Amino acid sequence: MKRELLSDPEKFREMLRKVVRKTWPIVAASSLAVGCGQSITILPADYESQAQVDGGGEVVPDTNRPDINPNLDFRNIPQENRLDACPVEQCGPGTSEWNKQAEGRYLRLLAPVDPRPLSFSQCVQLCKADLEKACRNGGNGEYSTYYNLAVTGCKEEYDRNQQRGLVCDYTVKRSCAVAGRRPAGMQEKDPSENPPPNNDLAETGAFFAELAYLEEAAVTAFRYLTQELEAYNAPEALLALSRQAIQEEVEHAQLMTQLADRYGATTQPVQVEPFALRPLAEIAFENAKEGCIREAYGSLMAFWQSETAEDPAVRAVMERIAHEESAHAALSFAIDAWIQPQLSEPERQQYKAYQQESYAQLQQELAEEPSPALVRWAGYPPKDVGMQLFRSLQQEVTA
Ligand SMILES: [Fe+2]
Ligand SMILES: [Fe+2]
Repeated sequence: MKRELLSDPEKFREMLRKVVRKTWPIVAASSLAVGCGQSITILPADYESQAQVDGGGEVVPDTNRPDINPNLDFRNIPQENRLDACPVEQCGPGTSEWNKQAEGRYLRLLAPVDPRPLSFSQCVQLCKADLEKACRNGGNGEYSTYYNLAVTGCKEEYDRNQQRGLVCDYTVKRSCAVAGRRPAGMQEKDPSENPPPNNDLAETGAFFAELAYLEEAAVTAFRYLTQELEAYNAPEALLALSRQAIQEEVEHAQLMTQLADRYGATTQPVQVEPFALRPLAEIAFENAKEGCIREAYGSLMAFWQSETAEDPAVRAVMERIAHEESAHAALSFAIDAWIQPQLSEPERQQYKAYQQESYAQLQQELAEEPSPALVRWAGYPPKDVGMQLFRSLQQEVTA
C-alpha cells in the first residue's frame, strides 16, 4: 500500500477490512454499524440476557426457514440445558456412592468463529470441551475425580431468532476415588479458592480492565503528542487530528471500563510521568512503534473482534473502536511522513532498526495462544489467526 494512502483513514480502513476478509472469508465486514456519534448502551447484565446495543442493526427473523427450530431459544436457555456447573454430583465427604452419572441435553450459542456448517465430530468436540470445563476442578480437592464423557447426539440448529447454536446429548460418569485417609481435624478448603464455574467471566473482565487501562494511558499519550506537535510546529491538520484523538481515547477508556464492569472487573487508575519535550527523532521512533505498528495492529484486531466476539456488547464497542483506532493509525502514518524528512541519515538508520525490532516484539507477543474465554467472549484472535492478521498487515504497510 502506498504511503500516502496509509495516512488516509478511509483507505486505511478499507485495507484493514480487506485483511480481515482475507483471513476469515466468512466475515462480512462491509459496514460499520456503529460509527462516530452514535450511542452505545451497555447494560451491566450477564450475557445470557444479552445487552441492549443501540446502533448494532436489527435482525428480522425469517421464521419460515425450514432449518429453524421454533422450540429453541438460545438467548433464554433453560437452567437444565446449561452447564453452569458440572451436571454430575461432586465427589466429596459424605457421598454414599463411588460412582455417579448424569444424562442431559446441553444447548449453547455458536460463535461466528465456530466452523460453519458444524460437522458431528466438531460439534462433539465443542460439547465435550464445555463439559470438561464445567466439571474440572470438581470435588473439594481431597479426592481425585475421573470422568467419562460420552456424547450420544450433537448437531447445530437455528433457533426461532435465527441464532445458531449447538444441541448436544451427553452422559457424564464420575468415579470418586479417595486419595488417602484424611487426618482428624483437617479444615475444609475455602471454596472461594477454587475457580468458580464461570471463571471465563473473571478472565474476560480482567482483559477488558487491562484494555481500559491502556485506553486511559492513550489519553495521556495523545495529550503529550499534541503538545510535542505544537512545539515542533506541525501542520494544523495533524494537530487537529491529535486533539480529536484525545477525546476519542477518553471515550474508549469509558467504553472499556463499562465492558470490564459488565464482566465484574475493576480498572486501575493510570499513573504517568509528567510531560517533557523530547527530541524529534525520539518522537519518530515512538510514533513508529506505538502508532504505525501497535495502533495499526490494534485497530485490525478491533475489526476482527467486532466480527467474532460472542458478546454483542463487545462487538458494538469494538466496531466503534476499530473505526477510530484506524484513524489514529492513519494519523501516525501522516505524522511519520511529516517527521521523516526532518531526520538525519544516522537517525533514519536508527529508525529502521527500531521499526524492525518493534515488529519482531509484537510478533513475539502474538506467539502466545490466548485463552478460549477471550477468543469466545472478547473475539480475541486465536494464535494462528493473530499471526496471519499480523503478517498481512505488515505486508500491506511495508509493501
Ligand atoms: Fe483507543
Ligand atoms: Fe488510539
